[in-house]
Amino acid sequence: MTVQSPSRTRSNMNNSSRNDGSSAEETSKSRWDPPVSALVPKMKTVDLHAYFGPAEVLKGISLPIADKQVTAVIGPSGCGKSTFVRCLNRMHEVVPGARAAGRVLLDEQDIYHSDVDSVRVRRRVGMVFQKPNPFPTMSIRDNVLAGLRLNGERPDDPDSVVEKMLRRVALWDEVKDVLGRAGTGLSSGQQQRLCIARSLALEPEVLLMDEPCSALDPIATARVEELIHELRRSYTIVIVTHNMQQAARVANFTAFFYLGTLIEHDRTDVIFTRPKEQRTEDYITGRFG
Ligand SMILES: Nc1ncnc2c1ncn2[C@@H]1O[C@H](COP(=O)(O)OP(=O)(O)OP(=O)(O)O)[C@@H](O)[C@H]1O
Ligand SMILES: [Mg+2]
Repeated sequence: MTVQSPSRTRSNMNNSSRNDGSSAEETSKSRWDPPVSALVPKMKTVDLHAYFGPAEVLKGISLPIADKQVTAVIGPSGCGKSTFVRCLNRMHEVVPGARAAGRVLLDEQDIYHSDVDSVRVRRRVGMVFQKPNPFPTMSIRDNVLAGLRLNGERPDDPDSVVEKMLRRVALWDEVKDVLGRAGTGLSSGQQQRLCIARSLALEPEVLLMDEPCSALDPIATARVEELIHELRRSYTIVIVTHNMQQAARVANFTAFFYLGTLIEHDRTDVIFTRPKEQRTEDYITGRFG
């Protein structure tokens, strides 16, 4: 299987080849895909272990998460991808019997330090789930505001917050005339963009997306992927995906997990064209998983 790197994919879509055989986008790639050794981390895990009761499901993960870039987490089912992202905003510890050890740094501050408020962490590090989950009894408008209200906030101008967030997720034009209708009445792709708007209303710095497209059809998936391209200008994004093409299309960096360990982390084009580890190559070429 050949998987295209993000820049190559977009170059092909734009058909912007230059005379020297490269494309403008490929030439500019180095500006936004630094070598992994030079990435500027927004977050960093250091020897992160995670447990469910006695079972250790993350076995010492040390991974930098590049600022204002997209990092994809890939690996076979059960390897710990969801657990990893849930450790990044302290949602793992919400599960009874679950705990984490090691360090998770956000702007160099350990989010597990006893002085740090987990609610504040979850505002700075937002999450979007696999299945779109708008609040069923709420209108589209109230869904956008729901996260703020749950945090006890009453924006001065809620309508402008609603419009701004729905524009940010490219949903405004589709729903501006039906803001009072139930969020659950939207298509699943629209619902997922609504849930992203709800997360963004809290003004997070990092957005965690755990298989955000797995319940969506290809057209809705493409819309969410376009949105991720836009959002990475302003946010640090971590996306879990089983879809290799999706990782290649949206992510600047990719981390391959296997059985609770990090096997390889590099620029996405390196992971998909010349991985260093045989297990990475076996996985991305579909030999297992
Ligand atoms: N609530 C839980 N209680 C006990 N064990 C759990 C729980 N959730 C996950 N696990 C176990 O932790 C390990 C990692 O699970 P996790 O959900 O992080 O994997 P994943 O890589 O996200 O898998 P998938 O691709 O299927 O979503 C698995 O062995 C799983 O069975
Ligand atoms: Mg998972």
